[in-house]
Amino acid sequence: MPTPDYDPKEVAALQADQLAAAVAAGIAASDAAADLDALAQAHTAHLGGRSPIALARRELGSLPPQARADAGRRVNEALTALQAAYDERRVTLDRQRDDAMLREETVDVTLAWDRQPRGARHPLSLVLERVADVFVAMGWEVAEGPEAEAEWLNFDALNIPAHHPAREEQDTLWLEPPTAGVVLRTHTSPVQIRALLQRGAPCYVVVPGRVYRNDPLDATHSPIFHQVEGLAVDEGLSMADLRGTLDLFAAEMFGPDVRTRLRPDHFPFTEPSAEVDLLCWVCHGRSAQRDEPPCRTCGSEGWIEWGGCGMVHPVVLSSAGVDPDRYSGFAFGMGLERTLMSRHDLSDIRDLVEGDVRVTLALGVEG
Ligand code: FA5
Ligand code: MG
Repeated sequence: MPTPDYDPKEVAALQADQLAAAVAAGIAASDAAADLDALAQAHTAHLGGRSPIALARRELGSLPPQARADAGRRVNEALTALQAAYDERRVTLDRQRDDAMLREETVDVTLAWDRQPRGARHPLSLVLERVADVFVAMGWEVAEGPEAEAEWLNFDALNIPAHHPAREEQDTLWLEPPTAGVVLRTHTSPVQIRALLQRGAPCYVVVPGRVYRNDPLDATHSPIFHQVEGLAVDEGLSMADLRGTLDLFAAEMFGPDVRTRLRPDHFPFTEPSAEVDLLCWVCHGRSAQRDEPPCRTCGSEGWIEWGGCGMVHPVVLSSAGVDPDRYSGFAFGMGLERTLMSRHDLSDIRDLVEGDVRVTLALGVEG
C-alpha cells in the first residue's frame, strides 16, 4: 500500500547511485562472460528474479504516485541498459559457438579414400559382357530368349524331331505338366529361331544365356551353365566366315597364342558341323602323351571341348521363314564357364558354381 509520506530516497534499491552500481555490475558481468554458460549465470544474477534491479522494480509499487513515475523511469532505463548489454554479448557468444561448431564438424572431402570396395561383380557376368562387346564391336546385336522354352523351339524347329537321339544327348529337364511341351532350354540355339522369326535375314546376333541339363557335376560339367550362341545369316556366307569369326573370338577371349582345333561332329541343325576344342589349360596337352601324369580336368584327352558350330541347316532356315536358296548362315554355341576356366586356368567348374566368395573376388575384378 503506498504511503503518502514515503520518501523514495529512503529506499536503498531505488537510489540513483545504487541503480547505477547495479547497472555497472550487470554490464561488467555480461561483458566478462567467457561463454554462454557464464552469460546465463550473469543473467540470473543481474536480471533474474532476485537481482537488485528486480528488487528495485518491486519497490516501485510501494511509492506514492508522484514519486513512482520518476523512479519508474530510472528503473526502466537501468533495465534497458542491462538487457542491451546482455543481448549484445549473447549475439557475440552465439556466433562464436556457431563458428567453433562449423570448424569442428568440417569434413575434408579431399582426404585420401582408402577403403576396400565391399564386393565385386560375378566373373561370369564380366566374361558374358566381354563376349557381347567383341561381337557388338563387329556390328552384331545381342538377342535373348526365355529359360523356360517351348519344346518346339528347343528341338523341333532345330531339326530334332521327337525320339531323335539328340534329345537324349542333351538330358532334358521338363516342366510340369509334360503335355504342355515346355522345357528348361538345354542350349541357347532356340534363340536362333526366335531371332530369325523376329528380324528376318540378314541377321547377326550373339546370345548369352543360362541353360539346363540333367548332367552330373564333374570338373567340366554342371547341370546349370551358360552358353553363348552366335548366328550369322546373310547372302553368300561360307565355312570360311565361320572359321574366321571363331579364330577372332578365341583370340579375343584367350589371347593370340591360343591353340584351338576344329573336329568334325554332328548336330541336326547344322551341316556340316564341327566341335571346337581348346588345348587343355591345366596340363597343356601333356597328359595325353605316354608316361605323363593324368589330368583330371581334360580326362587326359589333352583337349577340352569349347563348343559346337556349323553351317545352318537349310531345314532350320525354312522353319524360321528364311529362304535357304537365297541365304546361308553359320552358327556356334560355346560354354561360358569353360571360357572363364580357360581364361583363369581353373581346374574345376565347381569353383565357379559353388559361390565361393574368394573366387568371385579374385576373378571378379578383371579389367
Ligand atoms: C550345343 O549345345 C549346341 N547347341 C551348340 C551349337 C550351336 C552347335 C550352334 C552348332 C551350332 P553341346 O551340347 O556340345 O552343343 O554344348 C556346347 C558347349 O556347352 C560344350 O562344348 C561345352 O562348352 C558347354 N557345355 C555342355 N554341357 C555342359 C555342362 N554340363 N556344363 C558346362 N558346360 C557345358
Ligand atoms: Mg558337344
